[in-house]
Amino acid sequence: MELLKIDLNCIKNTYKKRPCDSNKGTHGHALLIAGSSNKMGAAIIASKACLRSGVGLLTVAFYPENKSVLFNSIPEAMYANSCVMNDLSPYQAIGIGPGIGVDEISLQYIYQLYENKLPVVFDADALNLIANYKIDWNNFNFPFVLTPHPKEFDRLFGEHDSESERRSIAIQKAAALNCVIVLKGHKTFITDGIHTFENTTGNSGLAKGGSGDALTGMITSFLAQGYTTLEATKLGVYLHGLAADITLETQSEESMLITDVIENIGLAFK
Ligand code: APR
Ligand code: MG
Repeated sequence: MELLKIDLNCIKNTYKKRPCDSNKGTHGHALLIAGSSNKMGAAIIASKACLRSGVGLLTVAFYPENKSVLFNSIPEAMYANSCVMNDLSPYQAIGIGPGIGVDEISLQYIYQLYENKLPVVFDADALNLIANYKIDWNNFNFPFVLTPHPKEFDRLFGEHDSESERRSIAIQKAAALNCVIVLKGHKTFITDGIHTFENTTGNSGLAKGGSGDALTGMITSFLAQGYTTLEATKLGVYLHGLAADITLETQSEESMLITDVIENIGLAFK
């Protein structure tokens, strides 16, 4: 299988320019299920990155209720209580996992998605919940993206010794589960089981807590805007890495914060 590079040319063919007569409805309403009492930073990071990537509306769902944390840092976002989300009809895409924890409460969020038809990004603790509780993949009858780092990948699909082993299992699993798998790392690998891609942007300034949460927000944003699972992951992974490369103009790999990277998503688009 040919390994295609995700470079500027690939992204230019994927990106659709925003029509000048669009309104917020044109660009979709994303739902991010993220954060919990000790990990609200994950929800804030994913939300900012989601909004910086072009979505029309964003609702963030978490528990316990603490709206002020959200509204004080992101006035553009709306809030929903993650324990009572029985109506998913307002949304076009869902991202779930950053900072939600792996307890019985967050397990309920996964159950709430079973009847859903919207595209979903499963990341971080959502992946750990699927692995810990041995959730049957047949419950997911909607388009979905998995964004594991190597340890999360191994929790889901068994221990592997090398990146190349993980890549070949990722291809098999993406084909069998009919999903897109994003195996995160220095050169992030993406597959839908038919095609394989390797990212060309990003640097070790991203090797810090919170970087993955931003990526989840970005991919969810692109899904809500109507991009396919494969297009949304390519755009998200490339622009996330490019924003980090642009951040090197004013920060070092050591000093870079993911919030600096999010502020450079705009330059990455340009
Ligand atoms: N070069 C390029 N990109 C990198 C590099 C590198 N050296 N190191 C990391 N990255 C990128 C990855 O490709 C990925 O997009 O940074 C991101 C890191 O994502 P995660 O591994 O998910 O890291 P993190 O943000 O800490 O995750 C937050 O999820 O996995 C859980 O326990 C973790 O709760 C934490 C949460
Ligand atoms: Mg992560």
